[in-house]
Amino acid sequence: MTFNIALVGCGGMGLRHAHGYVELVKTFGANGAPGVGPVEMIAVCDRHQGPAEKVADLIEEGTGKRPQIFLDYDEMLRDLKGLDAVDIVTDTPMHHRFAITAMEAGLHAMTEKPMGLTLKACRMMRDVADRTGKVIAVAENYRRDPVNRLSRALLDSGAIGKLYFALDVALSSARGGVMHGTVWRAKRDQAGGTVLDAGVHNADMLLYLMGPAASVYAETSTFERQRELRGMESQSPQLAEFYGHRVETGGQKGDMIEHDAADTAFAVVRFGSGAIGQLSLSDTSHGERVGQSSVHGSEGTLIRTPSRSGRPAEIRREGGETIIGDDLLALVPDFSLDAVTAGLWGKDRLGSYDLDFRQTDRKIVAIEYADFAQAAVSGGKPEVGSDEGTAALALAYGVMESGEAGRRVKLDDVVSGAVSGFQNDIDRTMGI
Ligand SMILES: NC(=O)c1ccc[n+]([C@@H]2O[C@H](COP(=O)([O-])OP(=O)(O)OC[C@H]3O[C@@H](n4cnc5c(N)ncnc54)[C@H](O)[C@@H]3O)[C@@H](O)[C@H]2O)c1
Repeated sequence: MTFNIALVGCGGMGLRHAHGYVELVKTFGANGAPGVGPVEMIAVCDRHQGPAEKVADLIEEGTGKRPQIFLDYDEMLRDLKGLDAVDIVTDTPMHHRFAITAMEAGLHAMTEKPMGLTLKACRMMRDVADRTGKVIAVAENYRRDPVNRLSRALLDSGAIGKLYFALDVALSSARGGVMHGTVWRAKRDQAGGTVLDAGVHNADMLLYLMGPAASVYAETSTFERQRELRGMESQSPQLAEFYGHRVETGGQKGDMIEHDAADTAFAVVRFGSGAIGQLSLSDTSHGERVGQSSVHGSEGTLIRTPSRSGRPAEIRREGGETIIGDDLLALVPDFSLDAVTAGLWGKDRLGSYDLDFRQTDRKIVAIEYADFAQAAVSGGKPEVGSDEGTAALALAYGVMESGEAGRRVKLDDVVSGAVSGFQNDIDRTMGI
């Protein structure tokens, strides 16, 4: 039986999801991915006609079938027949409302990261998923990169011994501009800012590699409160092709935008295992980028490369021994990629790959669709479900909660809502 999906939100990431869907169909054909079966995007929805048309055109060109277009989400749920699930790629404040409405209507829901606007939003989503028995999945992409799969297998196998600490330092410069030229990303009450919007990826990767986090202490700041709204060709040229069609209603290019989301955080994490992590994020590091992603253990250090770059990870040991890329595979003879990832990359064991960002990005989104559909069709769990989505957001918000409170916070308290000082205003403003 075909699993019918509607894509909701046809902006920058929505277009990338459409590419991912086309990649899934082109790679696996009419019968669908192994263990998953056929998936069809029967509708797309955006409140703006232009972006919805653009995404529908792309899907029609890639698959030969044009999805129906809806400009109103509730109307779509009411009128569209045969729908099994929604893929929610709107800006973050709508994720919980759309996912909850979908599950109440008997549909499965996948949301882009972050899973919800706040931890309260995530708890509401999880309660509805539990009550309705519907699948909630989160389209968290970084961990699905084959190089990150290998890194995880290496750490699990003890290739660098007992894990002591991890560094994840991503200090870059937005050159005084609004991230991705999207005004909602400037706003604290819309889960904007690099610490949350980008940091939730770093959080998920740290948890994926190091295991659950127990507590976090952080200093946070908003250094640049007035930022210029620019087009993506000058703000983030690598992503410009995905954002040209979107409609910005929050301002015009050249406007100065009030940026009240945090733009900088320096955090120290204690993992349940006893290991320590350092997470440093900022887009205000002018003239100098600093990036370091590594895991350090009793037998060596794993050096990570940026997710989706295809560049190989590396293990360095005392005495100068270095093991890199495909040579790392010998350390994990039993490691292999899952069938869907292997189908997309053409092999089930690899230490690096040479693809441009576009190709990699769509393969990873294809994996997300397959994982979601497989869980929904089989009654199983997606790899990144509400527990994993909540944990990643709890670490990102834990950083903000700690910065606000000026003390270390326990992640369990962030998940439960016992610590929520930073998020309370957001919940109030957004009517949760
Ligand atoms: N995984 C990643 O690497 C990645 C990258 C970019 C964005 N994202 C996530 O994807 C989501 C979307 O980000 P984006 O950059 O595409 O933002 P965007 O602003 O470009 O797109 C959001 C789209 O949602 C539409 N929308 C908003 N409210 C709507 C409503 N009520 N009904 C119908 N359509 C509505 C908007 O019109 C817009 O086209 C965010 O949650 C973001 O965090 C993830």
